[in-house]
Amino acid sequence: MMKILVIHGPNLNLLGKREPEIYGSTTIDEINTLLKMEAQKLGTEIEFSQSNSEGEIVDRIQRAMGNIDGIVINPAAYTHTSVAIRDAIASTGIPTIEVHISNIYRREDFRKLSYVSGVAVGVISGLGVNSYLLGLIGLVTHLKK
Ligand code: DQA
Repeated sequence: MMKILVIHGPNLNLLGKREPEIYGSTTIDEINTLLKMEAQKLGTEIEFSQSNSEGEIVDRIQRAMGNIDGIVINPAAYTHTSVAIRDAIASTGIPTIEVHISNIYRREDFRKLSYVSGVAVGVISGLGVNSYLLGLIGLVTHLKK
């Protein structure tokens, strides 16, 4: 069975409490439950990981080599800073979709640059929790081709 890894970056453990006017009131556990239900519909296995630390995210991507078919990642603030996460995705060659709850293009200028987009299969930004669900559907569709 196809196996998908979902990676949540820094501060996403605070979802639901954190700036709800931007990120909504859904918690990370609720997002993961919705993703699990969608994965069941799609007939894929799914795993979840959250870290506030850049190195741990790089390690998680490396460990996915050989046992994970695709990654849905919200790199959060590391989106805009991390060459290391970009290189980890490129180095492992694991097909990856980048997702954001908010629309990073209608916020501060520093959010308009993503280091990850250039190595992603696709990017979904601004659709709230649905960014994750659409990212998962898009990834699985891409992998089945
Ligand atoms: C985010 C957008 C980032 O700019 C921000 O640093 C986040 C969350 C989003 O999901 O909208 O932490 O990735």
